[in-house]
Amino acid sequence: MKLKSIALQAPDLNEPATLMQAFSKRRTNRDFDSRPVSEKHLSELLWAAYGANRPDGHKTVPSAMGIYPLDIYAVTTQGVYRYEPSTNSLEPVSEGDYRADTGIQDFAGQAPLDLVIVYNEDAFDVPDKPTAKMLQKNQVRLTALDAGAVTQNIYLYCAVQGLNVVERMSAADDAIKKPLGLKRHQHFVVAMSIGYPPQH
Ligand SMILES: Cc1cc2nc3c(=O)[nH]c(=O)nc-3n(C[C@H](O)[C@H](O)[C@H](O)COP(=O)(O)O)c2cc1C
Repeated sequence: MKLKSIALQAPDLNEPATLMQAFSKRRTNRDFDSRPVSEKHLSELLWAAYGANRPDGHKTVPSAMGIYPLDIYAVTTQGVYRYEPSTNSLEPVSEGDYRADTGIQDFAGQAPLDLVIVYNEDAFDVPDKPTAKMLQKNQVRLTALDAGAVTQNIYLYCAVQGLNVVERMSAADDAIKKPLGLKRHQHFVVAMSIGYPPQH
């Protein structure tokens, strides 16, 4: 083996400051204050997660062939909304407090904001049939790769903004379907609970 181990430098936490600090501060926290997430934080974290960052609609995360198979739902004390990247808006889905239905751990119902990420299997059914077949065959890993980019964007945003966050694979699949109004072609991928640290 010719290759040798290279001792990497410690990250410079000031240059470029915010990105390096985000990497350094990223972690999971499962305790939340009941204060609602501010409008600024809610807006920015959804944009960071899946917003369009170019006029052609391409997003803050990469996606194989630009398919973007994900939908993000925001579940608050007020209700359930679907994030619409094309208009950078939250579209209402169900009124009422369904936070506890988004998870099986207690903090899901306590965090002021739960994000639920689902994938749309129809997104892989592109007009070119051989391509559609290839995409459909790989849809599980393609979905997981895209969702991983989304969740990391959220983690990094929360890290620099002082928000607590936990990514959750655990959810009661059936409980989630009704309040989110999920269709047959939409499937749960992962959820995230988000809020401010508890005030002591
Ligand atoms: C795909 C995925 C699923 C996870 N699911 C859960 C979960 O259901 N419940 C939970 O409390 N934490 C969950 N976590 C958080 C991990 O436990 C956490 O990331 C891990 O302990 C490492 O800690 P850190 O994020 O602070 O570095 C999940 C993390 C990932 C990446």
